[in-house]
Amino acid sequence: MTAAPTTDGVLVDRYGRVARDLRVSLTDKCNLRCTYCMPAEGLPWLAGPQLLTDDEIVRLIRVAVQRLGITEVRFTGGEPLIRPGLVDIVTAVAALQPRPRISLTTNGIGLARLAPVLHAAGLDRVNVSLDTLERARFTELTRRDRLADVLAGLSEAAAAGLTPVKLNSVLMRGVNDDEAPALLRFALAHGYELRFIEQMPLDAQHRWDRTTMVTADEILASLAGEFTLTPDQAERGAAPAETWLVDGGPARVGVIASVTRPFCGDCDRTRLTADGQVRACLFATEESDLRGALRAGADDAELARRWQAAMWGKRAGHGIDDPSFLQPARPMSAIGG
Ligand code: 5AD
Ligand code: SF4
Repeated sequence: MTAAPTTDGVLVDRYGRVARDLRVSLTDKCNLRCTYCMPAEGLPWLAGPQLLTDDEIVRLIRVAVQRLGITEVRFTGGEPLIRPGLVDIVTAVAALQPRPRISLTTNGIGLARLAPVLHAAGLDRVNVSLDTLERARFTELTRRDRLADVLAGLSEAAAAGLTPVKLNSVLMRGVNDDEAPALLRFALAHGYELRFIEQMPLDAQHRWDRTTMVTADEILASLAGEFTLTPDQAERGAAPAETWLVDGGPARVGVIASVTRPFCGDCDRTRLTADGQVRACLFATEESDLRGALRAGADDAELARRWQAAMWGKRAGHGIDDPSFLQPARPMSAIGG
């Protein structure tokens, strides 16, 4: 393995990809129990002392923004809205110079109350996970009867100006795979941007199966029964979603086909877990411990150097289709989307 170059000011890997987008998981806990994510009883959560403190999180984000060229910060979980210090963390990150764009991926519970507060603190946008519009299905799928809270969260987010409000939907065969057109109709009616995400092998229960997952082609075919989709000519860049204009536009729908149409070659992400580990990829099997270095007294330059070294080791792709593919030990809920 060649050593990381001493390229100051950027997170670059050996394939020349530059990370600009930092995803920070604020907690591995969640107030839902989506069946494709975690078991009914939850997971062995990280213990308090393992978690980065609010100050530690802000410090690492400052290092990323001021020394490593990060321009986008996205907060994820678990469920980031249940982190007590969230508003203070957003406030501190919004005060950084240069100011990064700040977004949040949430299941929407509690968003109705928090949306105006978060917007005032400096949050720019939200992505809300919503896999079904049917209450009984929602309750079955998430094991909690909270659909109404999510819908209220969506409208308050839009009203507070956390726009464009994006919706993330995962379709599962025999569960909600008939709901793509209804979800799009709902998104169009409210001015939300909908993106379907192919289910990835990141579930805590290791039940993911390539042969039963709902593919991008199937999602598009199902939408085509009701809508006319034309490829969006706008530059995709590092954005994982391929987008289509709906009925001539301007409304759009996206599909994130991580499995059947991988976009690893354009990936511009780096990830920080709630316990202070850098992950170069969602599917990485190695992590790099920044919390240990930080608590041992490392200065900002040293933290930046370690982060660069971690990213230099980023693999070319996720290798899901490779027979030697190993699902990472950490499930999606402890990495963040
Ligand atoms: N594959 C794809 N998306 C997933 N999500 C959770 N688990 C998976 C998975 N295995 C989605 C959630 C949420 C976002 C954070 O990731 O539904 O929208
Ligand atoms: Fe919570 Fe998201 Fe996992 Fe559902 S998918 S249990 S909302 S972390």
